[in-house]
Amino acid sequence: MSNTSDHAPARQPNDLESYWLPFTPNRAFKRTPRLIASAKDMHYFTPDGRAVLDGAAGLWCTNAGHNRDPIVAAIQRQAKTLDYAPAFQFSHSQAFELASRVAALAPGDLNRVFFCNSGSEAVDTALKIALAYHHVRGEGARTRLIGRERGYHGVGFGGISVGGIVNNRKFFGSLLTGVDHLPATYSREHQAFTKGEPAWGGHLADDLERIVALHDASTIAAVIVEPMAGSTGVLPAPKGYLEKLRAICDRHGILLIYDEVITGFGRLGHAFAAERYGVTPDMITFAKGITSGSVPMGGVIVRQGLYDAFMRGPEHVIELFHGYTYSAHPLACAAGLATLDVYRDENLFGRAKALEAAFADAAMTLRALPGVLDIRTVGLAAGIDLASRPGAFGKRASEVMERCFNDEGVMVRVAGETLALSPPLIASEAQIGEIFDKMARAIKAVQK
Ligand SMILES: Cc1ncc(COP(=O)(O)O)c(C=O)c1O
Repeated sequence: MSNTSDHAPARQPNDLESYWLPFTPNRAFKRTPRLIASAKDMHYFTPDGRAVLDGAAGLWCTNAGHNRDPIVAAIQRQAKTLDYAPAFQFSHSQAFELASRVAALAPGDLNRVFFCNSGSEAVDTALKIALAYHHVRGEGARTRLIGRERGYHGVGFGGISVGGIVNNRKFFGSLLTGVDHLPATYSREHQAFTKGEPAWGGHLADDLERIVALHDASTIAAVIVEPMAGSTGVLPAPKGYLEKLRAICDRHGILLIYDEVITGFGRLGHAFAAERYGVTPDMITFAKGITSGSVPMGGVIVRQGLYDAFMRGPEHVIELFHGYTYSAHPLACAAGLATLDVYRDENLFGRAKALEAAFADAAMTLRALPGVLDIRTVGLAAGIDLASRPGAFGKRASEVMERCFNDEGVMVRVAGETLALSPPLIASEAQIGEIFDKMARAIKAVQK
């Protein structure tokens, strides 16, 4: 019998056909692919060696910058030591260590951490914990979930149900039943070109009272919002909005969940946006920045009281029938611990806060460019709305993104007709200036 393991695996031809890219126009991409070969700190490098400044932290995730030595070393060490430990009925020490480190960063008594592998899983986990929490307390009629228009909570059925993006919903059937939505917090008329939290819009939280009056509080389990809606164009919470939501939830025994998959780990100048706004939710979802994007990981931080509500009954019985094979995967935990060390040692959350004003000023330099309808900034994030061409929504922003990558050497995100910026938190002021200068050239070059 020949030992085939000695032989290199047969290589398939590297054609572009087999791979179905997510959230990407596949045919257009395959005509002119944008490929990335490597990365270091603030830069990506293309296969032909061109440097591309990362204005997007990958997909809002590489907050510590790319391929940071301590994170790479931790992953390598872990891969040699323990590749995998079962997530159910067994565990490993880094899972506990990372949970306690995350808990220490979270506000108030949010100190119990459930791990999963992505933001979408984190959202589904949080929604399921909310439903089960009411169930174990004898309030099983609380089954309704409230999201928000223009919310993005990933792509699981739970997340698209509470989310508020029509294209993410309309193809996928009836979704979860018993879901209602708050109105979006954005109004160009009242908020255009605001730095930070807009003064207008706090009153939109009062709509929750209308929803409660319609369904009755006894049927509502939880409200989920992003403190800053990232994927639909950087929409920071209006002043006073989260305070109002919190008060209404408290009045009616409804759980408040912050989806901090983007805002967690420094994006808004704090470990979590909850701290920036001084309003503490009952659960926080996180992902992305926990490992600086290096290994997939997500999770939910819950208030101790929620966890304690489950810790009843016979001790040999599972308290929550939920979990993933790769919950608290050893590589992700090692990456997470090393990433949190980098955040702490380099004071990257404080750095984001210190850079916020300069970042906002740099973003606003694009204000007078042709077709720029609005610019919003908060922390190290900016959304820039462009005027659409008639009958071609999104085409212009896509062309700017392509031009940025191909001609200017900067990576930006595009969502609809909005360009989004969220550089790694290690960006220098000069690099922030460079990102916006390059974007300005691209916006000018792409015809209205
Ligand atoms: C607020 C929010 N929630 C959830 C998700 C989904 O995360 P993932 O793509 O890791 O499933 C995202 C992704 O951008 C997000 O921004």
